[in-house]
Amino acid sequence: MANVTVVDHPLVQHKLTLMRDKARSTAGFRTLLGEIALLLAYDATRDLPLTTMTVETPLESMEAPVLAGRKPVLMSILRAGNGLLDGMLRLIPSARVAHIGLYRDPATLQPVEYYYKVPEHMSERDVLVVDPMLATGHSAIAAVNRLKADSPRSIRFICLLAAPEGIAALTAAHPDVHVFTAAIDRQLNDHGYIVPGLGDAGDRMYGTR
Ligand code: URA
Repeated sequence: MANVTVVDHPLVQHKLTLMRDKARSTAGFRTLLGEIALLLAYDATRDLPLTTMTVETPLESMEAPVLAGRKPVLMSILRAGNGLLDGMLRLIPSARVAHIGLYRDPATLQPVEYYYKVPEHMSERDVLVVDPMLATGHSAIAAVNRLKADSPRSIRFICLLAAPEGIAALTAAHPDVHVFTAAIDRQLNDHGYIVPGLGDAGDRMYGTR
């Protein structure tokens, strides 16, 4: 599938299986999510542009690679995105952080924005939008729509699990956005849950219902 990368690293796949287990504790789920987030971020940042800087090693001076330009932005789709955000910040501690809050209008079923905060100079930054579950794709599409109004240099979407329906919707609406996921499951059920999936990611990471 063009524009979609399934991060099939054995550690990611093993940890994802542990997370799917309904007997996994809240603490265990959160820890695993943080660990997978770091590994997903490693893959999703593989092509960030580099420049060089002069560094003095104990032996001599050299031109060595460093990330080019302004710090990348991690944008969390509230609230479940925060679980991925924490792990990714361990890999990219200097990243800037953006948040978007969306709720589903009960009448139209469309996402409505209630919060949006991003750093300055967005047009010079690469953005990684994070949300563990790409289900219908409605929130992801709305978040990217809003983000594009700030014209970032590039946008990637990182999730833990995706439904084929969500991938189709997001890549159709935003063919320029590359999607990174640990797995693509079978389908959505009638309630919009990914199956086999892992349940409600927000509830499982925060111990709510
Ligand atoms: N959001 C979740 O947390 N889980 C799903 O299966 C779908 C959307």
